[in-house]
Amino acid sequence: MKKYILLTLILTVVVVGPFVYQQWSEAKRLRYIRETKQLASQVHATSLADYIQQLKQISPDSTQLLLFTGNTQAQLEPCGCFIGQSGGLPRRAKAISRIRETGFSPLLIDLGGVQPSQLPSMKTHSFEADDLSADNEVIMQDQHRIQTTLTAMEIMGYDAFFPFDAETEIIQNREVDLSFTFLDSDLTQDSDSYLIKTVGEKRIAMVTLDLKDPAEVALVSKKLNSLLSEVQAQSDFVVGLSHSPIEVNRVLAQKYPSFSAILSPYKGETKKIGEVLLAYCNAKGKTLGALMLTDTEMDIQQIALTEQVSDDPDIRRLLDDFYHQVATDHQLQITSHRLFSSQQEEQDDKNSYIGSQTCQECHQQEFSQWSHSSHATAFNTLRTVGREYYPECVTCHVTGSGYESGYQIGNPKREHLVDVGCETCHGPGKLHAYTPLKENIRGQVPEKVCTACHTPEHSPGFDQLIEYVMSEVDHSRTQLSLKQILEQRMRGPMKPAVELFVMSYCPYGVQAEQELLPFFEKYGDRIDFKLRFIVGKDEASEEKPSEQVEFTSLHGEPELIENKRQMVIAELYPDKLFDYLLCRADHLEEAWVNCAQEVELDVERIAQAVESEKITMQLLEEVQRTKELSVKGSPTLVIDGRIIDGSLWRGRVSETCR
Ligand code: HEC
Ligand code: HEC
Ligand code: HEC
Ligand code: HEC
Repeated sequence: MKKYILLTLILTVVVVGPFVYQQWSEAKRLRYIRETKQLASQVHATSLADYIQQLKQISPDSTQLLLFTGNTQAQLEPCGCFIGQSGGLPRRAKAISRIRETGFSPLLIDLGGVQPSQLPSMKTHSFEADDLSADNEVIMQDQHRIQTTLTAMEIMGYDAFFPFDAETEIIQNREVDLSFTFLDSDLTQDSDSYLIKTVGEKRIAMVTLDLKDPAEVALVSKKLNSLLSEVQAQSDFVVGLSHSPIEVNRVLAQKYPSFSAILSPYKGETKKIGEVLLAYCNAKGKTLGALMLTDTEMDIQQIALTEQVSDDPDIRRLLDDFYHQVATDHQLQITSHRLFSSQQEEQDDKNSYIGSQTCQECHQQEFSQWSHSSHATAFNTLRTVGREYYPECVTCHVTGSGYESGYQIGNPKREHLVDVGCETCHGPGKLHAYTPLKENIRGQVPEKVCTACHTPEHSPGFDQLIEYVMSEVDHSRTQLSLKQILEQRMRGPMKPAVELFVMSYCPYGVQAEQELLPFFEKYGDRIDFKLRFIVGKDEASEEKPSEQVEFTSLHGEPELIENKRQMVIAELYPDKLFDYLLCRADHLEEAWVNCAQEVELDVERIAQAVESEKITMQLLEEVQRTKELSVKGSPTLVIDGRIIDGSLWRGRVSETCR
């Protein structure tokens, strides 16, 4: 007898063991990815709340504050590609006003570098309306962003701006009135390279510096000496604003201890040389620099602009206007920015992009795996956040952007190239699709292809993660579970959008609810769940105004009414929807009121709402959505706008109603 027990035990371990191990190692993999991403995206800066706390301990009378930014590259706000991003004009403005509320009146300086870095300086010429080459159009977009940035600086009340030589022209071409001071620096000329501002009871002098190398420091030493003594006589503190390379700043700090601090727009580490503080900026406006000066002490910190800092409403509006203009002006949408310029397949003029759908015809398995990955919903992501027309985003969320035959914003003939399709990794596939050979497609996908999009700016930690995430693009891994799909999606900042399409009287739809709702319930608000209904519109009512439209449903009028009821309950009693649905699943033949009462819903209120006009509009939405996604049968599960293959979640659901 004992022998049998032992045998059963061993058998169980042998059969179940690998499965348990797989579950365990998958959980471990996901945890590792989450932790690595978290670590890589940490912002090394003081939180605004902590900084405000520090300010509250000191008096504005004894401490002067200078806030500074630089090398912001007209970055309006973070892209939203991962959790925990810092930066953005609306948050910067909020941080500044929170600091002002504590009683301080900080000086506000930008150290230059507002123009996007890829903009070559010699292309800053003004342009004629009829000379719209691609290059000029790129510049139009950038110009537009720079104008928005300058306007935001004006609204925030900047005191001074020290542009780079290369960007003076673009700034002279500005379309907005700016009241802050434009600084320049030319110690070889007889211009005054300084500005003195009174802050509280003290006077702060800002001296601009732009010296290429230590030799130039020696060359201007006489001039700088006399300038500094002139400035010192009129002020309490002297702060250098420097476009010089970091090693030149060090030399300056050693030679001229009368500087309290030298601020640079470039990236670097805060250092003290003698008594002089050297401070730097985080590119793209990720943080706000803050210099505190007292008679005896100095302190430099970078303030984090993470999502704990809310948006300033005025600057938010300014950006909304900007996005609105880009969305409505086709000239602002054209982009010539291309990825993969080092890959030979993309440079072949005879080839072109053809779309993932064509590949499906011969590579069904690869297609099926891909279509459940987040690459296949990358464009939906942009639609959800309302940036589908913005070239700054589209490049990495579509296929072949910037190439002659690739995706183009607003061109309906290129809709099949949305998402990170097959051809982003494998190269343009037209020649291969017509004559399938190994030679005319990229069979080996080098890491460099992934990191063209998965850059540290958009996908921090990816270089450490690549071997851990490769399995997610491995086409042989087709039998994912729904749990795996959801948990992979949950790593990003956006909740997975889950839509379950049913007909409320369809027994298989109801089975799907029984199968899936308890599962979704476990994820609570980590997913966005929406119950959807498959309804049709009577052909004859195509032309009619919306309130006269006749709807159709496979199981007739009673189903249509139950659909409406469930829509009403989802809206009025979202917390009780699942309970109601599960009750109905067991008692579909009985009166709905029984279930409504059992889960304590207001029957009268529901009955009234079902008759409302609003419901008609909502039903029209359901018709629209069903059509958009080509949903045919009940039940159909959709995640992030893509239908999930039934085999991955069906369980006890035996069929579909069509
Ligand atoms: C008409 C059928 C057909 C279509 C359409 C098609 N392929 Fe292929 N593909 C093949 C065949 C057949 C092979 C195997 C070729 C061989 O082994 O010589 C192949 C091989 C490949 C390979 C492997 C190459 C290697 O080096 O091992 C990749 C990658 C590939 N295809 C990608 C794609 C992509 C991407 C598309 C869509 C743009 C696509 N295929 C469209 C038939 C097709
Ligand atoms: C054309 C740009 C592009 C290329 C090339 C690319 N990706 Fe992606 N990848 C994206 C985008 C965009 C997303 C986010 C999609 C979404 O959720 O909207 C993403 C998402 C992912 C995710 C899920 C992210 C997460 O942690 O939630 C993984 C894993 C991934 N990619 C791996 C790869 C690998 C491995 C390669 C190379 C074999 C690769 N990608 C190539 C653009 C790209
Ligand atoms: C250089 C390529 C690149 C650009 C440009 C880019 N993205 Fe992304 N985006 C990615 C990658 C890669 C991911 C996946 C990041 C990850 O999880 O590792 C991603 C993820 C996202 C996500 C998260 C999706 C989710 O499921 O949680 C959002 C939202 C997003 N991007 C929006 C944008 C917006 C808006 C812009 C423009 C302002 C933009 N992206 C520009 C590459 C890019
Ligand atoms: C995120 C990048 C990425 C995308 C998108 C992608 N693949 Fe692949 N594909 C790979 C990688 C990586 C390999 C493995 C090749 C290697 O070892 O380098 C591969 C291999 C292949 C192969 C060779 C045989 C196999 O299955 O391993 C085919 C065929 C293929 N892909 C077709 C497709 C098709 C069709 C699509 C679109 C439905 C697609 N791929 C989308 C990265 C991608």
